[in-house]
Amino acid sequence: MDKILIEGGVPLHGTVAVSGAKNAALPVMAAALLAEGDHRIGNVPDLADVRTLSRLLAHMGCRVERGAGGSVEVRVPRDASPEAPYDLVRTMRASVLVLGPLLARWGRARVSLPGGCAIGARPIDQHLQGLAALGAELRLEHGYVEARVPRGRLSGTTFTFDKETVTGTENVMMAAVLAEGRTVLENCAREPEVSDLAAALVRMGARIEGAGTHRIQVDGVESLRPVAHDVIPDRIEAGTFLVAGALPGNRVTVTGCVPAHLEALLEKLRSVGASVATVAGGLEVAGGARPRPVDVKTAPFPGFPTDMQAQMMVLLALADGSSVVTETVFENRYMHVLELRRLGADISVDGRVALVKGGRGLSGAPVMATDLRASAALVLAGLAATGVTEVRRVYHLDRGYERIEQKLAPLGARIRRERA
Ligand code: EPU
Repeated sequence: MDKILIEGGVPLHGTVAVSGAKNAALPVMAAALLAEGDHRIGNVPDLADVRTLSRLLAHMGCRVERGAGGSVEVRVPRDASPEAPYDLVRTMRASVLVLGPLLARWGRARVSLPGGCAIGARPIDQHLQGLAALGAELRLEHGYVEARVPRGRLSGTTFTFDKETVTGTENVMMAAVLAEGRTVLENCAREPEVSDLAAALVRMGARIEGAGTHRIQVDGVESLRPVAHDVIPDRIEAGTFLVAGALPGNRVTVTGCVPAHLEALLEKLRSVGASVATVAGGLEVAGGARPRPVDVKTAPFPGFPTDMQAQMMVLLALADGSSVVTETVFENRYMHVLELRRLGADISVDGRVALVKGGRGLSGAPVMATDLRASAALVLAGLAATGVTEVRRVYHLDRGYERIEQKLAPLGARIRRERA
């Protein structure tokens, strides 16, 4: 297993470019199933999760190839095998995104249940209830969702999500685009990735209004055409580099990001005393001498993203006082705390609330990555710590960050990967 070695305490200066968003690329790739023919999806990061979904689409009978300039080309056949096996789904929960498109296009699907993961139980009940409301019959059997559409075609409906769910909204919206009649979805997730998927679907001929709000209206069409779409920049990768820039003594320009997707984070970076400026092509962040403490509560977009909670905690661990972090989206997303403590951070957790007592510096140590965003936090902590930090189980990081060590090294970071 690869490791990342970081010699910390070195100031970072320079410019880093953001890749395409993993969490926008995955749903758009799944949406390709909705139309026969040759799709071209641009700005797709070369990540483990993208390769997993490519394997899944290939398993169903699609041809998936990397094209020029970061694009992925998907050829979708007339007939596919609508099955997502456990071995692929268990490595990536987002595989469940094929369920809606399979039901919409072929009227049947067999998709393994994803199960739990390091950050919580993460049920898919809202996906299933939404699809049932559209007329699918769903049974859970032998660890699989066995689904079919008795009428042959899904029917438009009104459905209210009990909980704002990003992939749930995406799954049900993808199913609704080929349903007969109008679907109104209420309490939808408003994340930019949902809006980007809607934009891709509209390019395919879908009729969707309201994406990016809590109410999405879809007028079903009979068929769609293949998509040509570039996915949005990765706001979480951008946010991770912005936090790196806000560490004491650093100054980093992040290019290719969309500031409007990062407002909640930028507000917190300003509150800790970092300077944030819009510059040509992106954002520049510079850290003060010492961050100020600030309370952070995660929430669905446009709130502070749960996917930035671990990284922000690194900054707060260095602050001049105590901060309270509240995680409201996932119930078990503090796995990084034990590892940050190994680096000297003073953090205690009580349920969904973490108390971060700043004031101590961090000192390098071997640490273990537990999930994707936790790994990113450990890299940031390693950059800020004195001495050497060794981050193990880097495969978590590789699921969501494209060549992170190659992007950080030109900023002056002493970081390298040791191949197993
Ligand atoms: N939830 C339910 N029932 C459902 C669906 C969700 O109870 O049917 C709950 C979840 O357990 C959680 C909350 O609702 O407590 C929100 O979960 P959501 O469904 O929005 O999460 P997701 O769609 O599974 C996506 C991202 C995550 C990101 C979350 C929250 C993708 C592929 N994944 O997950 O990204 O943390 O939204 O913003 O889009 C990551 O990239 O590291 C990552 C984990």
